[in-house]
Amino acid sequence: VKKILLIGIGAGDPEHVTMQAVKALNRVDVFFVMDKGPAKKKLVALRQEICRRYIEGTSYRVVEAPSPPRERAPADYRTCVEDLNNEKKAVFERLISAEMADGECAAVMIWGDPSLYDSTIRILDAIIADGRHDIDYEVIPGITSVQALTAKHRTTLNRIGKPVEITTGRNLAAGWPDDADSVVVMLDGEDTYRRFADQDVEIFWGAYLGTPDEILISGKLEDVAVRIYEARTAARAANGWIMDTYLMRKVREDK
Ligand SMILES: C[S@@+](CC[C@H](N)C(=O)[O-])C[C@H]1O[C@@H](n2cnc3c(N)ncnc32)[C@H](O)[C@@H]1O
Repeated sequence: VKKILLIGIGAGDPEHVTMQAVKALNRVDVFFVMDKGPAKKKLVALRQEICRRYIEGTSYRVVEAPSPPRERAPADYRTCVEDLNNEKKAVFERLISAEMADGECAAVMIWGDPSLYDSTIRILDAIIADGRHDIDYEVIPGITSVQALTAKHRTTLNRIGKPVEITTGRNLAAGWPDDADSVVVMLDGEDTYRRFADQDVEIFWGAYLGTPDEILISGKLEDVAVRIYEARTAARAANGWIMDTYLMRKVREDK
């Protein structure tokens, strides 16, 4: 059996890495690295820093796989993600066949937590379902960008007894989710929060959370929407990429 560990490494701060993740990192024979895009250099650097800090010895190997690029504005988002995941699956299968021996342990260091807007679990399940590889995998949880966001703003994710919806900018563009008191928005390339600036909404926004470039802005949306937009635009221009997340809630009830 080939063992694969999906290790959540937190959202940008090497100190997000849990003790469980440290133990897992020290079991690894080979790391598979699949980063892409303009953020690649920083993301790879963080993973290297995590290995340097937490792994005793240097007996592990690192295999970089070219990750298939994603169309930026696909006509059909779901099909596009499915195509991408099929390509990623093929890349994974090649890594499993060619880059690890039976009995070895491979790992993928997953940004944040493997359960949140990440397809690696689905891809491994599909590989196992095909039955061509004798593999087994474990998931080690990590601090998500959502937790990094709420902690930095010293706020709660939900109001007392109320539901939270975690969604994408693309979904939010269709309107405030029914029944959601608090909404967390990820993967928003379009500053979609601006659509709600005329409503009684508070926002907690964070970019590059946990990293030296971190930016935090919070307040009544109508007061801070422009400030967030300007900060986001400037930071993206300066760095060439941005990752940001925000929590919004309608100001109706007590916290
Ligand atoms: C593909 S999702 C992966 C989420 C990840 N698995 C997690 O647990 O946070 C990428 C999105 O996560 C959010 N994100 C991840 N890391 C972040 C960070 N350090 N600061 C702000 N947002 C972050 C952004 O919304 C980004 O578009």
